[in-house]
Amino acid sequence: MFADLHHLSHHAAWRRQLEMLLESAGEGIYGIDLAGRCIFINRAGAEMLGYTPDEVLGRNMHYLIHHSHPDCALMPVHDCRIFRAFREGAGCRVEDEVLWRRDGSAFPAEYASYPIRDGEKVVGAVVTFSDITERKRTEAALHAAHAELERRVAERTAELSGANQRLRVAHESLRRLSAHMNSVREEERAHIARDIHDDLGASLTAMQLELNWLRQRLADRPELVTHIDAALDIGTGAMGAVRRILNDLRPGVLDHLGLWAALECLLQEVEGRSGLRCAFVCPEEVERCRPGRDTEIAIYRIVQEVLTNVQRHAGASRVALVARALGRDLVIEVEDDGRGMLVPAQPTSFGLLGMHERARAIGGELTVTSVPGQGTAVSLRLPQALA
Ligand SMILES: Nc1ncnc2c1ncn2[C@@H]1O[C@H](COP(=O)(O)OP(=O)(O)OP(=O)(O)O)[C@@H](O)[C@H]1O
Ligand SMILES: [Mg+2]
Repeated sequence: MFADLHHLSHHAAWRRQLEMLLESAGEGIYGIDLAGRCIFINRAGAEMLGYTPDEVLGRNMHYLIHHSHPDCALMPVHDCRIFRAFREGAGCRVEDEVLWRRDGSAFPAEYASYPIRDGEKVVGAVVTFSDITERKRTEAALHAAHAELERRVAERTAELSGANQRLRVAHESLRRLSAHMNSVREEERAHIARDIHDDLGASLTAMQLELNWLRQRLADRPELVTHIDAALDIGTGAMGAVRRILNDLRPGVLDHLGLWAALECLLQEVEGRSGLRCAFVCPEEVERCRPGRDTEIAIYRIVQEVLTNVQRHAGASRVALVARALGRDLVIEVEDDGRGMLVPAQPTSFGLLGMHERARAIGGELTVTSVPGQGTAVSLRLPQALA
């Protein structure tokens, strides 16, 4: 069949047709014999290389247009992929090499080479090639744009992670500041409580003693005794008020009886004052746990704020404090049956914020859960507190 085609191609009309085809192609097309000499080249191909077709015919194409690599290093003929391929009777397609023009300049080219066969025998190769300068330029521009984009993304990512890091540091400082403020406030409260106790408490007691002394001396003057009794009542009221204020400033029971008794007292006080039914549940294993002074104050203040909130906002009829062990974690939950609330994702009001901060400062976690209309539960979990 190849022989027939070959035979046919000698036919004048057929040759003419083939020539027209070659000349009309936009790509460069040339043929070489086994020695690498040009046996035909179309006009487009010759022009791309800066020659006329006649100037190319018979020349060794490797040495004429394919002699060097893009970096000008010589390409020995045994490295030429066109030669290697057609000697093996195979084709090849290459797009990372250059072809050299007559004027010594080079252009990036895409070429494909296929063996020309006469029967089973390879007698040469046909090579099609085109100038891909524009494509390479676009690719390079695309590559540069991509690299620029990557650079900017990396820059932005670095900026963001820097900002994140600064934010983390600022957050940590704020957390430490808040913990410090809490402990300063506790110290200050203790100090004021001591002063009130020593000064006001002692003065009130002395005044009571003086009034009692006077009352005994004036036992025969009932009109004066009535006034002294009134003064004594005022004194007793003042002592009660002082005790309440002292207890609020520095819950003495916390020091004397420990956290659990102090919490029970707190609930009893709330019940006595507000009429809320208060329940306190604390199993023995939890009651034995003494988490330490700072932690106990923090827990006490958190529960105090929760109970204040229940009285102020919940409109509840009962509230229960349940302490329990969850593995080695201590969990304290205060639950009311009031109107509930929409729990903010990030608390912004100071009561809730303070509770969260205090919980974090002692290594715990506070969760508020509530369904509007169905009460609120505040849960404080302290990991490893029962270890
Ligand atoms: N147990 C509860 N039942 C219903 N609503 C509650 C309860 N606890 C808190 N809230 C709601 O959450 C809001 C925020 O509480 P938070 O303690 O932070 O502030 P506050 O009590 O209003 O003011 P502050 O505690 O600073 O005096 C309250 O205003 C109230 O609307
Ligand atoms: Mg509050």
